[in-house]
Amino acid sequence: MALLEWDEWYETGILSIDHEHHNLFDALNRMHDAISSGESQARVRQTLDFLVDCTATHFRDEEARLAAISFPGLPEHHAEHTKLLNQVAEFMATFDADPTAVNANKLALFLVEWIVRHINEMDMRYIAAMKAKGVT
Ligand SMILES: [Fe+2]
Ligand SMILES: [Fe+2]
Repeated sequence: MALLEWDEWYETGILSIDHEHHNLFDALNRMHDAISSGESQARVRQTLDFLVDCTATHFRDEEARLAAISFPGLPEHHAEHTKLLNQVAEFMATFDADPTAVNANKLALFLVEWIVRHINEMDMRYIAAMKAKGVT
């Protein structure tokens, strides 16, 4: 069963953003599947790499859209994105040094919580501003 099910509750109504968020859910589910089906640490690391790539790309795209509409909350939003990427980079460095020293399942659960909270609390704040500027 998927760890994180897409639901209309998560929709911003901006199609390109929703598409990228959906991809993040898929990537996170793939990572969780690899962990729970007991795949090798190398394979789990690959799914984490893919998730981090999707996340970094999404953050870049989202911030570019916010910059394009001169969204006043962009610095705060950027800081949240950067903080997460730094936390995950630290985790990956620890994992690479000693895969037994980390709990990948715990990381997956942390990421689920982070993504759900971030979409609901931070991303939802820019919708009105984007729609007012005609972004769909
Ligand atoms: Fe965001
Ligand atoms: Fe987002």
